[in-house]
Amino acid sequence: MTRLSVNINKIATIRNARGGNIPNVLQAAIDCERFGAHGITVHPRPDERHIRYSDVYEIRPKITTEFNIEGYPNRKFLDLVLDVKPHQVTLVPDPPEALTSNAGWDTIANKDFLIDVIKEFKNAGVRTSIFIDTNLKNIENASLTGTDRVELYTEPYAAEYPINQLKAVAPFIGAAKKAHEVGLGINAGHDLSLENLKYFNDMVPHLDEVSIGHALISDALYFGLENTIQMYLKLLEKI
Ligand code: PXP
Repeated sequence: MTRLSVNINKIATIRNARGGNIPNVLQAAIDCERFGAHGITVHPRPDERHIRYSDVYEIRPKITTEFNIEGYPNRKFLDLVLDVKPHQVTLVPDPPEALTSNAGWDTIANKDFLIDVIKEFKNAGVRTSIFIDTNLKNIENASLTGTDRVELYTEPYAAEYPINQLKAVAPFIGAAKKAHEVGLGINAGHDLSLENLKYFNDMVPHLDEVSIGHALISDALYFGLENTIQMYLKLLEKI
């Protein structure tokens, strides 16, 4: 089945709203695993408004599944990842002030930069993934950066899904086929939800992992974290 990595940034956002340690982000990470998630994703931003760098250090030794750190690869982020050595790092091109990641890499314009940072991570034994849109040129060129995987930016899929499901998913099928053809593993994420996940997973080939935060944590308010994770896992079973 496609693996589920739970992005726990939103739990940190709630904690940070009040100071203190409620909800406990470390415990939430441990519990997501206990409830069946295949991995934990964190996205420390430069202003630490969600996950803090100290959270990343605290969580790392407690994770027994896959730990994925996302972020823009400035020097501070590189040093954090090289120090913490997660299983996977996902590189996103978002500027520090971005509300959330809202675009994939231009792998042509940033090729040399990506080659350099990916080499550093690979030398440290950290699997790399780069956030990318469905532009086939970007995907072909991603394979020249040395990355192990791409993460398909699914916001356009989520936006189109309620209008025209097939039209929404078609570019992602093409992108996944191309990525597979050039030897890349495939992750996906952004705005995936209980509503749109099953169709995506059924239709898009070669999917290794999805990373889901906003909708999953919001669903947990109604269904509880354990039930919610089970509901998402059910949708990820392959037909
Ligand atoms: N993947 C990346 C690279 C992201 O930046 C985010 C949001 O932090 C996600 C996946 C998860 O998106 P969402 O919170 O909409 O599920």
